[in-house]
Amino acid sequence: MFRSPDRFWILLLVLFVNQGNAGPAKQAGYYGHGKTASAEEIAGWDIDIRPDGMGLPPGNGSVEEGEYLYEDKCAECHGSFGEGVDQYPSLAGGNGTLTDVRPHRTVGSYWPHTSTLWDYIHRAMPYTQPESLADDEVYAIVAYVLYLNDLVDDDFVLSPENFTSIELPNKPNFVSDGRPDVKNIRCMEDCRDPASIEILSMVERTAPKAGQDSSASSGTTDAADAIAVYQQACAICHEKGIGGAPIPGEKNLWTKRIANGMETMVKHAIEGFQGAQGMMLPKGGFSHLSDDEVTSVVHYMVEKSQ
Ligand code: HEC
Ligand code: HEC
Repeated sequence: MFRSPDRFWILLLVLFVNQGNAGPAKQAGYYGHGKTASAEEIAGWDIDIRPDGMGLPPGNGSVEEGEYLYEDKCAECHGSFGEGVDQYPSLAGGNGTLTDVRPHRTVGSYWPHTSTLWDYIHRAMPYTQPESLADDEVYAIVAYVLYLNDLVDDDFVLSPENFTSIELPNKPNFVSDGRPDVKNIRCMEDCRDPASIEILSMVERTAPKAGQDSSASSGTTDAADAIAVYQQACAICHEKGIGGAPIPGEKNLWTKRIANGMETMVKHAIEGFQGAQGMMLPKGGFSHLSDDEVTSVVHYMVEKSQ
């Protein structure tokens, strides 16, 4: 790299001198690097819009204005009716297809919040000129995309005042994940032997067996299978009672539930429910499990708890 050793030393010297010059001018900031971001700089990044409308700038835009803007800036890719040109995504249609083999997910059929639409268009569209739209233009185009999805009338004007009154049809199908955050503090003394700690993986799910369609509720699952499914899909909460999950074998936690009948418990386990203790997600969040599998696990859990 260096043709002669001399050059190396000269370079080092230069570096050294330069360092000396930069010297003690210690920068502000938490770690001694960089500088505190100005309010203006933060505002440049802080552009997200929340479902409750927080973050929306003042302004408004009508479906009518939106139509012109959309034709001009969006239709070449997304189609005049939001149908999508070639491989570009469609922005309308697809209602009622979410349970199909090939669901057609669009703003109207799939998205939960109008705020995402505002944020996405403002942040990322048009594809080749992101963040080029004025706030009023974003309001108008969002209003027009809502109109294309039959969610507002043609004389509608979107503004922060009426923003949250628009509910996208698929919103109820988004549920919050009741699994607890893990914020354990690192152990520094008298810690458990790592070898004694069992790590349960959420990723290792029960794979459907060869030749068996896991979604079809055919046939029965034997006890060994039930235990395996329990270990992989249910133990993560139920074994230690995380988030209020009743622990199999702790009889007092089950008396009331058993009194409600097996049918109710199975229904709760398959469909999910919000109880007094916490939230049981449908099939514990493992939607690929068949109803039969879940049913046999409930039988196993209840048998242990009687
Ligand atoms: C040059 C082509 C092009 C133009 C013009 C364009 N888009 Fe897009 N748009 C895309 C592509 C490509 C994606 C998918 C991006 C991705 O998934 O990363 C997209 C995604 C979207 C999505 C999300 C769709 C979904 O279901 O995920 C919305 C909403 C959207 N665009 C709205 C607009 C609006 C409104 C305009 C006009 C202001 C616009 N786009 C202009 C190409 C374009
Ligand atoms: C993410 C945590 C979590 C997972 C995973 C989970 N459960 Fe639950 N489960 C709960 C909680 C919390 C409750 C108690 C809810 C209440 O009563 O407030 C519960 C309650 C139940 C009940 C009692 C129902 C009733 O009617 O009282 C059954 C049965 C059950 N779960 C079965 C299962 C099965 C089977 C699995 C695995 C396929 C599973 N759970 C996975 C959290 C979980």
